[in-house]
Amino acid sequence: MMNTDDTMGLLKEIDVYIEELFEPSGEVLEAALIDSRRAGLPDINVSPNQGRLMQLLVATAGARRILEIGTLGGYSAIHLARALPEDGALISLEIDEHHAGVARKNVDRAGLSGIVEVRVGDAHGLLAALVEGGEGPFDVIFIDADKESYPEYLEASLRLLRPGSLILGDNTIRGGTVLDPKEEAARSTREFNRLVAENPRLYGIVLPLIRERIDGLTIARVV
Ligand code: SAH
Ligand code: DHB
Ligand code: MG
Repeated sequence: MMNTDDTMGLLKEIDVYIEELFEPSGEVLEAALIDSRRAGLPDINVSPNQGRLMQLLVATAGARRILEIGTLGGYSAIHLARALPEDGALISLEIDEHHAGVARKNVDRAGLSGIVEVRVGDAHGLLAALVEGGEGPFDVIFIDADKESYPEYLEASLRLLRPGSLILGDNTIRGGTVLDPKEEAARSTREFNRLVAENPRLYGIVLPLIRERIDGLTIARVV
């Protein structure tokens, strides 16, 4: 039997193998990460492999309109927007003006500023405004902001989706802490997963993913 450290080491090697196999990054995405780090943003963007997976999901869904909750430096937004047609649109919500500024520069360098709009504010209010303004439906919604609000973001998202749309929820395994939550972030993401699983309007799965630790992406389709 391998011990936990060996298993984690092997999982990371597998992740690197997949990453190198498909050369997912390229200069523009690398530059986005370098500039985000230089600007002091936390290193909590999706992994290259997860970015690739989400790009594949967006393309497979034939999505034209995407909503992202939690922009950071725009790394995941670039992945997602790359799968959109030229007349597509991605709206990304970010509470931190500094993060939003870094993201806009990264998106611009990726040649995506024509289809990506970063809105600054608390996602709770911005989501309510999207619903009020009749700006839905979106084909894909990627939830990746404050974990404590995931259940509320799910509820708001359900007002902004149509049958066939996808909901993606990041960080829904959290190193396995969702199995027996001891802090609010783990409790809320566990609750989010349960709400997805129990909603008859949704057909979903939680996909474990390898990061610095084991994490997961919840994927659900509105039926
Ligand atoms: N999706 C990004 C990572 C997002 S990190 C990527 O993978 O590249 C989470 C982001 O959510 C942070 O930038 C944080 O400032 C933002 N955030 C946290 N609480 C928020 C809120 N209430 N409303 C909007 N954004 C929020
Ligand atoms: C954290 C947030 C994220 O969105 C993420 O992908 C990883 C970590 C965090 O707040 O620690
Ligand atoms: Mg995340």
